[in-house]
This record gives sequence, structure tokens and C-alpha cells, in this order.
Amino acid sequence: VERTLVLVKPDGVSRGLVGEVVGRLERKGLTLVALELRTLQRSVAETHYGEHAAKPFFGELVDFIVSGPLVALVAEGPRAVEAARGLIGATDPVKATPGSLRGDYALEIGQNLVHGSDSPESAKREIDLFFPGLS
Ligand code: GTP
Ligand code: MG
Repeated sequence: VERTLVLVKPDGVSRGLVGEVVGRLERKGLTLVALELRTLQRSVAETHYGEHAAKPFFGELVDFIVSGPLVALVAEGPRAVEAARGLIGATDPVKATPGSLRGDYALEIGQNLVHGSDSPESAKREIDLFFPGLS
């Protein structure tokens, strides 16, 4: 089985959409193996989004992800990375398919509700960052 890291970003927590996100992952058949509400240190956020460090929106992205509590979770199942990305939808919520989380609940690319690891390699790196020592 495969694991993926999902974040319900601060907009999702403040809007009361944690249950909706977690419920969809569970109903899809993924299994929760870790889950925690926390506010990120800036250094953790910068490491998590390190691949975007040179992008013009990086400062805004980090400011947003540390702006309030988020829910970090690890979900497990067959092809968990791809399964979660499918439930989440395209990065731009206006282009995201209705029925996906971003397609149903978000409008702005900078506040797109959920993060999901984009490959098994990213998932391993992100799980080690958020939940070091998780067996
Ligand atoms: P994550 O799951 O959050 O990693 O999103 P993603 O994998 O669908 O997209 P990507 O990794 O390319 O971008 C990371 C995040 O940066 C996105 O979720 C957006 O919130 C933000 N982002 C991407 N492109 C833009 C942009 O053009 N403008 C702004 N303001 N934010 C952007
Ligand atoms: Mg990404």
C-alpha cells in the first residue's frame, strides 16, 4: 500500500470544511494513519513548499499556510497519492472539476482548501517532515 500527506489548509479549517475533506477521503476507502491540528512554523512551511521557492507567489503561499491552524493527515491505500489528488481536483479551483473538493468549495488559487502530495517520492518527504518517526 501507498501513503500520502493531505493538508486541510487554513481556509478549510476556518470555513469548517475539515469533516467534508476527511469524510471524502474515508468514503473513498483510504485509511487514516495520522491526523493532527497544528499551526506551522514558517521554516516548516518553507521546506514543505521548497520546490516553489523561486516563484513570485512563494511569499504569499507561505504567509497563507502559516496564517492559522491546518489539519495535517496521512492517508493510506492502493495508489493513495493519485486517489487523493483526484478527490482534491486541479490547482486552480475555477478549473477544478465540480465534484472534486476544490471544484466544489474553492474559487481562488491562493486559497484552494487542500494539499495532496504529488508523487510517492514527495509523499515520503512530506510525511517525514510532518510526522517524523511515523511507522
Ligand atoms: P498543493 O497541493 O498545495 O501543492 O497544490 P498543487 O500541487 O495543486 O499545486 P502546486 O504544487 O503547483 O502549487 C502549490 C500551491 O501554490 C497551490 O496549491 C496554490 O495554492 C499556490 N499557487 C500555485 N500557483 C499559484 C499562482 O499562480 N498564484 C498564487 N497566488 N498561488 C499559486
Ligand atoms: Mg503541489
